[in-house]
Amino acid sequence: MKKIIVANWKMCGLPEMAEDWGEKVVSRLPEILRELAEVVVCPPAPLLTYMKNTLAGSQVYVGAQDCHPQAEGAYTGDISARLLKAVGCSHVIVGHSERRSLHGETDGEVSAKAAQAIKNGLVPIICIGETQKQRENGETIAVINRQVEVSIPDDAKAGNFILAYEPVWAIGSGNLPTMDEIKQVHNAIITSVSRRTKVDIGQVMVLYGGSVKPDNAAGIMRVEGVAGVLVGGASLKADEFCKIVAGASASD
Ligand code: PGA
Repeated sequence: MKKIIVANWKMCGLPEMAEDWGEKVVSRLPEILRELAEVVVCPPAPLLTYMKNTLAGSQVYVGAQDCHPQAEGAYTGDISARLLKAVGCSHVIVGHSERRSLHGETDGEVSAKAAQAIKNGLVPIICIGETQKQRENGETIAVINRQVEVSIPDDAKAGNFILAYEPVWAIGSGNLPTMDEIKQVHNAIITSVSRRTKVDIGQVMVLYGGSVKPDNAAGIMRVEGVAGVLVGGASLKADEFCKIVAGASASD
């Protein structure tokens, strides 16, 4: 199965960077993109159409970083899943820990956002993960189970959603769980998602995110239960990101 590699630009990037990034990624990786990796780039919302045009005819997908839980209405500054679909997005990240902590998003809202995404033909990338404190208290699996239970909408079916395990303490810190820990947590998530959605264990897709870099990506993608990676900081530079995508060649 192809590895899924998602670039999350967060609030970084300008049109000229998008153009340069798109050209480099598309010209350097055609074989890997065809055979080994599915790449999704999630730039800030005003760059979505621009990115879509820059990547026209390529195999790189464009995704958004958030959507609103309602279909449309008086929500100044927010963006509907329907509009994201209309401008060419295929995926949308929901429930990223920065949105949960900085915008107070709850698991219930994350579920409603994911439901809107699915309803409009977008694949939600539903982020979950424990904080440093929860990890220290040995609560990782309990936290994950609770987030899975509430953050995944009822209409989740095989192939229409993706999970991303992002330990909050690993994001942007350079610290990573061990490969064994990643394996354990991913397997726990897969079991829990399968129980919650009735999707077969083999069809539950869970990405790992948090300090993924060119020198650790291939190893992470080889871990059992890891369907791909969600990359923040290291996705901004096309050179680094291409090396990460190339890591997919080392996995099955
Ligand atoms: P990072 O971010 O790769 O910079 O740690 C990952 C993320 O927040 O999705």
